[in-house]
Amino acid sequence: MKLVKHIANLGYGSRKDVQWMFREGRITDADGEVLYADDPLDHDNVRVDGEPLDPPPGLLLMLNKPVGYTCSMKDRGRVVFDLLPARFRERNPALSTVGRLDRDTSGLLLFTDDGQLLHRIISPKSKLPKVYVATLAEDLRGDERATFASGSLMLESETTPLLPAELEPLEARRARLVLHEGRYHQVRRMFAAIGHHVQALHRERIGGLTLGDLPEGQWRALGAADRDRLFATEPA
Ligand code: URA
Repeated sequence: MKLVKHIANLGYGSRKDVQWMFREGRITDADGEVLYADDPLDHDNVRVDGEPLDPPPGLLLMLNKPVGYTCSMKDRGRVVFDLLPARFRERNPALSTVGRLDRDTSGLLLFTDDGQLLHRIISPKSKLPKVYVATLAEDLRGDERATFASGSLMLESETTPLLPAELEPLEARRARLVLHEGRYHQVRRMFAAIGHHVQALHRERIGGLTLGDLPEGQWRALGAADRDRLFATEPA
């Protein structure tokens, strides 16, 4: 692929814009030598205004999502893409969230531009556990754990029961819940089905991948070791 197209596909501008960036000498190699639009593509050696290029296609990143942001671009208000560099919205192939978190849910959210990887993460076959911490409006009664583990709990307007899920009480009104599938608003609907209201919800893990020390509202690109962690079923 031509260098100009590669840089345009990363969202730095239209091909025309990027042509201008070349003419203005803004695109250089790592030593500061000006590059030209038809120079060979060597991603790691390219600088735009002195900065390394954004990661190439095949990008997987994590965001520590705060409450108040939605995952759908169609929704009104703040969207999770507002927390990423603006040009990430213009990438080709497009970057999308891996599944969704509700506006009022915080925590680990993944994004990728790799359709196969996305499918592998969300596919029920991969059985990647998703781990949430829920804060409830009322104290746990003690019967919740067995109901969630039963494999027979049915959500309203659904026809197949939920897979067994593991509930670990943490405090009177706080519990960790491990899911092995991802249905619409699943955690809130599960608690609603047994008479509880979820006041706050946070996703802390997918597979073996956690947020680590990533601050709320921040993102980072994931490397090979993170991907291995993701597809491990336990945290490292
Ligand atoms: N379950 C929910 O109810 N909400 C989320 O955001 C994720 C899982």
